[in-house]
Amino acid sequence: MAIAAASTSSFPHLNHTLFPKCPSLSHHYHFRPLRVPFTVRASSAVVLERDSITQPQVTSKVELFACPVCFEPLIRKGPPGFNLPAIYRSGFKCATCNKTYSSKNIYLDLTITAGTKDYTESQPARTELFRSPLVSFLYERGWRQNFNRSGFPGPDEEFNMAQEFFKPSEGGVLVDVSCGSGLFSRKFAKSGTYSKVVALDFSENMLRQCYDFIKNDDTILATNLALVRADVSRLPFASGSIDAVHAGAALHCWPSPSNAIAEINRILRSGGVFVGTTFLRVSSTTPEILRPFIRQRVSQSYSYFTQEEIEDLCSTCGLINYTSKVQQSFIMFTAQKP
Ligand SMILES: C[S@@+](CC[C@H](N)C(=O)[O-])C[C@H]1O[C@@H](n2cnc3c(N)ncnc32)[C@H](O)[C@@H]1O
Repeated sequence: MAIAAASTSSFPHLNHTLFPKCPSLSHHYHFRPLRVPFTVRASSAVVLERDSITQPQVTSKVELFACPVCFEPLIRKGPPGFNLPAIYRSGFKCATCNKTYSSKNIYLDLTITAGTKDYTESQPARTELFRSPLVSFLYERGWRQNFNRSGFPGPDEEFNMAQEFFKPSEGGVLVDVSCGSGLFSRKFAKSGTYSKVVALDFSENMLRQCYDFIKNDDTILATNLALVRADVSRLPFASGSIDAVHAGAALHCWPSPSNAIAEINRILRSGGVFVGTTFLRVSSTTPEILRPFIRQRVSQSYSYFTQEEIEDLCSTCGLINYTSKVQQSFIMFTAQKP
C-alpha cells in the first residue's frame, strides 16, 4: 500500500537536506547532490524506490531508525543506501509525532531535543565533558592512549576481543553506542562483518571528529556506516531490531548506566550481543582483604563499578550469558538478549 505521507511538503527542511548549503560538505565529492527523483512508499515497512521511468527500481529495507519520542520507525525520503552521503541527503519524519529529523553537520540528530528552539538541557559533567571541542579533538590524539596504563589492551586487541564475542551477530546491524570519535566504529565498518554499522554518540564534537577521520577514506565512506547523535538512555531504534551493541569505555560516562543497559536490552533482538568495556572500581591487583573497604567511587566525575555490580546490572536489566575478561582495571564484559 503506497502512502503519500512523505511528500516534500511533509519535509519542509528537505530541500536543504537533499541539497545541503554547508559549503564544506557540498563541495565534497562524496556529498555532491544527486538530482534523482524518489518516491516514498510504505506498507508494514517503509521502502524507498527510485523513479521507475529514469532508474531501475531500488528498494531499501525497513527503515532502521525510529523516533526517539515514540519508537515508531521513521519515514525516510532521500536516496537509498546506508552510507554517509545517502543518510546526509535524506529527510526523516515520524508520522506519529509529526516531527522531522535531519542531518546537521554530517550526523543525523536523533535526540529528543533535536529541533528545540528555546529549551536547552544540560547533562551531568561526565557527559558534558566529551561535548567539548578540545576534549573531542584530543581524544584519539593522546587521551585514549592513556587508558593502556590502567590495563586497556589498546584498540586493535580490544577490537579483536569484541569481534570474538560478536560472532553470533555477524552479518547483522551493529550499533557502536558512545562511539566517541569513532575509533571502533571505523574498525567495525572496515571489517565488513556487519550489514550496517551505526556510530552513535551524544557529543556533537565527537561526531564531527569521527567524520574528520573518515572523510578522506573512501574505503570507509563506501561502507554501510551512519553517524547518529542520540542519548544512550533513549536509543532511536525499534525494540528487537539490533543484532549487536558495542560500548567501548563508556559505562562510567553514562548519566544512568541502568537506563542505558535497559535501553540496550530493549533494542537487541533475541540472541543479540552486547559488549562493553570500562574501568573497574577495584582492579584485579587490589588485595582481596581491601576490597570490601573500597566503597567510594574513586572519582566525582565518573561512575566506576565492581565486576559484581556490572554483572548484577546486566542481569537486572534482563541480559543473560554474562562473561567478562579483566586486566588490571580494564574489563570487557558481554551479555546476550534472551
Ligand atoms: C570515553 S569515551 C569512549 C569513546 C570510545 N567508545 C572508546 O572506546 O574510546 C565516552 C563517550 O561516551 C559518550 N557519552 C556520554 N554520555 C552519553 C550519553 N548520555 N549518550 C550517549 N553517549 C554518551 C561521550 O560523548 C563520549 O564520547
